[in-house]
Amino acid sequence: MEDHVKLQYNGKTIELPLVEGSQQEKAIDIQKLRASTGLITLDPGFKNTGSCKSGITYLDGEQGILRYRGYNIEDLAANASFLEVAYLLIFGELPTPAQLTKLQEDINRESLVDEDIKIILKSFPKTAHPMGVLSSLTSALISFNPSTVDVESEEDMYNAIVLLLAKFPILCAWAHRKIKGLPLNYANTSLTYTDNFGHMLFKLPHQEYHSQPEVIDALNKLLILHADHEQNCSTSTVRVVGSSHAGLFASISAGISALWGPLHGGANQAVIEMLEAIRADGGDTSKYMAKAKDKNDPFRLMGFGHRVYKNFDPRAKIIKKTADEVLSHLGIHDPVLDIAKGLEKQALEDPYFVERKLYPNVDFYSGIIYRALGIPTEMFTVLFALGRLPGWIAQWREMRLNKEPIGRPRQIYVGATERHM
Ligand code: ACO
Repeated sequence: MEDHVKLQYNGKTIELPLVEGSQQEKAIDIQKLRASTGLITLDPGFKNTGSCKSGITYLDGEQGILRYRGYNIEDLAANASFLEVAYLLIFGELPTPAQLTKLQEDINRESLVDEDIKIILKSFPKTAHPMGVLSSLTSALISFNPSTVDVESEEDMYNAIVLLLAKFPILCAWAHRKIKGLPLNYANTSLTYTDNFGHMLFKLPHQEYHSQPEVIDALNKLLILHADHEQNCSTSTVRVVGSSHAGLFASISAGISALWGPLHGGANQAVIEMLEAIRADGGDTSKYMAKAKDKNDPFRLMGFGHRVYKNFDPRAKIIKKTADEVLSHLGIHDPVLDIAKGLEKQALEDPYFVERKLYPNVDFYSGIIYRALGIPTEMFTVLFALGRLPGWIAQWREMRLNKEPIGRPRQIYVGATERHM
């Protein structure tokens, strides 16, 4: 294989090294480009730019492959718990039973947040979006917990990870209980991580709470499927913020804000709102297909298309099957599931979507499951954030351990040249 590419510019030939990953992905290393030519590259949205070398998640958008640390997502979703996957992403290996037990026990010990956090929560209006609440409370955690972590100290890093894994689900559950006007509750440490999250969301003070294994299994799968997705918008945000040596919690809080947008994690909420709107409008999916294709109409088919997947999103396949299973177990017939399936069928046969390789993404069916579990629409992206937490932590840690430089892109200035008053 060639180990470099040649670039001709201004009568000179410059050699730029080629870099190859473990799955034979190739890249041109342009780190010396500006120094040797005065040129920079221009790539809005970073569609062709690799920002780092990473050993965490591999995805092949053409083949529809997604792997965490080498394990296929289908395998992990079928056979692992969310906490095992979190351990795998962050530390690189699946935990032994002893390591898993220790992690769970350490999390249990830290499953409290400072009571003063409740004062901050109280000051939000009930109408506040839970993603805004979650981002703010995660920032607030910094003031109540040590904000600097020596990433090279295994103990320091482990403790910070335990703190976040323990406290973050409490904040997610509290954001939900706030909008519902429910009393805030705490963990039941006799339950597994995912089961306990269900308990914190749904346990009512005047009733027993008994989880259903099928529901916990579905939640577990959803969290695993969202746990990492290499250098997406929120993860890149976490890495860039962390590259200034901002603390772990501050970087995660920034990631939550990035995830909130409807083109990213906010799409799961937008999908249900879209499906509901179609239903309220008489269920005519063709009308909305036409709107999605009309370049003069800003409407897009939410839950369709992906920056990287130009084939089926492997997560969407698992989620669609899980949606069928969980709805049938709960005996729910949700008309929006029928609308979603109808839209998918039409889109997969429509030349506009076929030519642009637009397939359902992870968000297309996830909201239907959340709805069936009784989770309100505004909370969908919070669930995504809980799932993505281990990925953000793993990527932040890798970036710091690799001693990556501060993230600071350049630009091509197109504004006014020098002017005088
Ligand atoms: N509906 C209609 N047309 C679409 C859609 C859509 N959902 N997605 C892309 N297109 C069209 C674009 O209009 C564009 O058409 P053109 O070539 O004629 O101009 C073409 O497909 C390429 O689209 P881009 O926006 O350039 O693709 P990009 O990679 O920048 O965007 C994105 C990807 C943001 C996900 C986009 O497909 C989209 O907006 N989808 C809907 C929102 C969504 O579901 N987001 C969740 C993504 S998954 C996640 O973040 C967890």
